[in-house]
Amino acid sequence: MKVDVLLGLQWGDEGKGKVVDVLTPKYDFITRFQGGPNAGHTLEFNKIKHVLHTIPSGIFRDDKINVIGNGVVIDPVIFKKEIEGIKKLGIDLSKTLFISKKAHLILPSHRILDAASEAAKGKSKIGSTLKGIGPTYMDKTGRNGLRVGDINLNFKEKYDSLVGKHRLMLDKLYEFDYDLSEYEAEWFEGIKVLAEFQLIDSEQFLNDALKEGKSILAEGAQGTLLDVDFGSYPFVTSSNTICAGACTGLGVPPNKIGRVIGIFKAYCTRVGMGPFPTELFDADGDLLRAKGNEFGSTTGRPRRCGWLDLVALKYSIMINGVTELTMMKSDVMDDFDTIKICTSYIVNGEEVEHIPYEMTAEIKPVYTEFKGWKTDMTAVAHENEFPEEFNSYIDFIEKETGVPVKIVSVGPNRAQTIERMLD
Ligand code: GDP
Ligand code: IMO
Ligand code: MG
Repeated sequence: MKVDVLLGLQWGDEGKGKVVDVLTPKYDFITRFQGGPNAGHTLEFNKIKHVLHTIPSGIFRDDKINVIGNGVVIDPVIFKKEIEGIKKLGIDLSKTLFISKKAHLILPSHRILDAASEAAKGKSKIGSTLKGIGPTYMDKTGRNGLRVGDINLNFKEKYDSLVGKHRLMLDKLYEFDYDLSEYEAEWFEGIKVLAEFQLIDSEQFLNDALKEGKSILAEGAQGTLLDVDFGSYPFVTSSNTICAGACTGLGVPPNKIGRVIGIFKAYCTRVGMGPFPTELFDADGDLLRAKGNEFGSTTGRPRRCGWLDLVALKYSIMINGVTELTMMKSDVMDDFDTIKICTSYIVNGEEVEHIPYEMTAEIKPVYTEFKGWKTDMTAVAHENEFPEEFNSYIDFIEKETGVPVKIVSVGPNRAQTIERMLD
């Protein structure tokens, strides 16, 4: 069997959690391969709304195995809270959740370093989620990091040594005031909870599972345009959010990747700083934010909103080798008379159809206009009921990208998901 990868094609928050939850019954294993508690993946079913940060979104279907892969970074404090929240719903994860020994730990001092780095950047800050993601990945690639497998192996000594380095940076480089003590106590409590789980060599576990014919879904976090190599650098996260990240973040070879399911919102959002060519600063943007409830699942920050950007979408499809698309939050655009899609950019007076290196340059989007469908899409249960205008919108996207839109989401609930019957 192969690993199917599901990932965001925009700036995150496309609705990955919802779709992973919907697709989970088709798979034996659900895995996370990168990112950490900067992610907030929302699931809604049976009147429950739940946001996951570190744990894969397959966790609510009891017979499934969920794996946190080596590419993920874990904050034990947040992890403990997640576990407690899920326990309250009557779900026991002790048999179904496995964690890679090679996953790196976010230390309390990583969070402080994140805050200090952002403060030092002033106006040019990234708008990080302040979860310590950047500093943790820096220690990983700098070969200083602490891993899950280090728990019980001179752990306190390694911890103190790394925190010592961080203290130097905070005092000498950033001159930043901080207090570690409170969070540190909670952190060690979290480590105890983490240590009770099945800590494994997940690359071996997953490759063995593939050999045994098990099916695996890899759940991306963030989105392609936040990828550390291909996103709008430096306004990106610190991991490879793209399909290739599933190989390095799980230890599965590229020839074991199967379907690549690319998720996009019918419009665009971005939270944090950085370029966003189709961003709207008018009533249309306000309407998208209000109707789409576009406020961060992790930080509560208002998300910036704009029209769908096909230049960026095509780029993401190319980088990931997307084999099928899922269009999310179509219902949010139900009330518009006119809907726009950006098909090219004007950069320095020239029309271009590719993302330029200098994303910070003045980019003017060129739009194609569509008649709004003016229908309550949340009540639509089958593709036969799609209004003509809605079909035109999807047809255009499929024609331009050359990739079929296989799933359309028309509301936050698990049930509000329409699989299209394509040949
Ligand atoms: P993720 O990070 O990609 O998992 O996405 P988030 O959970 O951060 O953000 C997506 C938000 O949109 C959540 O609040 C979801 O409940 C909600 N959502 C998902 N799909 C739909 C949809 O089709 N329509 C509407 N209105 N909301 C949706
Ligand atoms: P999910 O998985 C949206 C953004 C932050 C910031 C930048 C860097 O829910 O889609 P970081 O904390 O990673 O150093 O922040 O990336 N960001 C996200 N935006 N959804 C996310 O995750 C994000 N994770 C990080 O806002 O601009
Ligand atoms: Mg999110």
